[in-house]
Amino acid sequence: MLKVDVAGLELSPPLVLASGILGVTAKIMARVSEHLGAITTKSVGARRREGYPNPVVCPLPYGLLNAMGLPNPGIDYFEEVIREFKKLSKKPIIVSVIGSDSPEYVSSRAEEAGADAIELNVSCPHAGGLLELGMDIEQVRRIVRDLKSILSIPLFVKLSPNIQDIGKLAETCEKAGADGITAINTVRAVKIDLLSKKPLFKSIYCGLSGAAIHPIAVRCVYEIYEKVSIPIIGVGGVVNWESAVELILAGASAVGIGTALTQDIAIAKEIASGILEYMRSEGFKSVSEMIGLAHKR
Ligand code: SIN
Repeated sequence: MLKVDVAGLELSPPLVLASGILGVTAKIMARVSEHLGAITTKSVGARRREGYPNPVVCPLPYGLLNAMGLPNPGIDYFEEVIREFKKLSKKPIIVSVIGSDSPEYVSSRAEEAGADAIELNVSCPHAGGLLELGMDIEQVRRIVRDLKSILSIPLFVKLSPNIQDIGKLAETCEKAGADGITAINTVRAVKIDLLSKKPLFKSIYCGLSGAAIHPIAVRCVYEIYEKVSIPIIGVGGVVNWESAVELILAGASAVGIGTALTQDIAIAKEIASGILEYMRSEGFKSVSEMIGLAHKR
């Protein structure tokens, strides 16, 4: 009942580990995957990247701020992580690839290592060039088209809520060949430290995730669904089954969980049973019957 096909990936339940959270070691990813339909890794680039100096996160009562600077071990090392994960788990692994760091090279290496799909990250809200990348429709079109010409696994593009017209960008990605859209990445924010009286993060800008951004995610998924026919993975502030169902009704075929998993990985199990309970009480036989229902007039 909870099984869903998302661009050829069979997800059961329709829940995905969102990129950036826990997606670094094969063992942790395999453990988390027990309760999810698929996992997405932390974004990977061609070379090892240290990321920003501390602080890189700041918890808030209603969410989490982060500016990590895309730290990752580079694809040479990460290839082994993918292979190891494939031995430990049967769930699909979606490898997140940094859009501005040789995405073709990194994606093809990830595919060779056994990735089931690629998620192109063009939406980090505080990485300078990357921010501009996700805002530049022409550049995104070109990267998606080039990546599609070399990949045989599905390609998702992770979009930013910080762009004026997210529906138009999603449409451009679909026309360029993308197999799915992931929406949304974090919302661009600034945190000021009261003692130093300066921005807390080195990058000045940071990204807000968690409960506070859920209505923004729902709005973005709603707008994208109106413009594309490829599947959407809805991400942003999913903290319980209600917030997951809301994203599905807005148009998401599957739902990403991020910040909530940092508190408790068992939350994924609770969300899956909540969705099932809702389906039973509302008379739905499959998740696909619920996708985008909020658009029916
Ligand atoms: C980070 O590593 O700083 C966050 C990445 C992202 O938001 O895409």
